[in-house]
Amino acid sequence: MLETPRLLLRPWQTRDYPEFAKLNTDPKVIEFLPACLSVDASNALAQRLQTLIAQQGWGFWAVELKIKHVFIGFVGLNPVHSALPFSPNIEIGWRLSSAYWGQGLATEAAQATVQFGFNDLQLTEIVAFTALGNLRSQAVMQRLGMQQGALNFKHPSLAKDHPLAEHCLYRLSRAPYQHIHT
Ligand SMILES: CC(C)(COP(=O)(O)OP(=O)(O)OC[C@H]1O[C@@H](n2cnc3c(N)ncnc32)[C@H](O)[C@@H]1OP(=O)(O)O)[C@@H](O)C(=O)NCCC(=O)NCCS
Repeated sequence: MLETPRLLLRPWQTRDYPEFAKLNTDPKVIEFLPACLSVDASNALAQRLQTLIAQQGWGFWAVELKIKHVFIGFVGLNPVHSALPFSPNIEIGWRLSSAYWGQGLATEAAQATVQFGFNDLQLTEIVAFTALGNLRSQAVMQRLGMQQGALNFKHPSLAKDHPLAEHCLYRLSRAPYQHIHT
């Protein structure tokens, strides 16, 4: 479990599932994701993410807003899928309920996640990627100090002509990050 001034990044609980299912059908949240998820698919995803946390001790954590004790989405680390051209690597990712955008909460959770990745897991690099049009997600990457790689790539899970296929890749290395944050 990670704690920030406003947030807890914690294991998933079944009481998170209804809110997660709701955000997975919110048109604003899924604008740059391949599909909206049915309730069953959303619950199955939450279960998979929790299983990974239980196995690894880390993962895409459920994010809870401390002041209201409410679940607002997920932020965390995940091993990059082997089909991606920059695998093996660890990605940082995020998905928050749109009601909580615009308050710096994703960046606050992501900063704690980066520190965990570099200090506790001793990672040498963390990557992030998203569809080219997802500027909000890229803004979080930039706020973290991540650097955009020279090349974009087509996400292998999507058809080559899918409007969301083209992705950009950002990278953050431990050495310069530690230099700035110590
Ligand atoms: C990507 C996502 C997490 C970004 O959320 P966000 O709230 O825009 O990001 P941040 O937490 O960094 O908040 C930044 C905004 O909060 C504002 N802000 C307010 N208080 C702040 C504070 N204390 N600290 C930092 N920023 C603050 C910033 O000015 C900025 O505002 P802007 O959007 O008007 O520029 C969110 O859009 C999302 O969940 N999208 C859907 C899922 C998705 O696409 N995930 C990525 C797939 S790869």
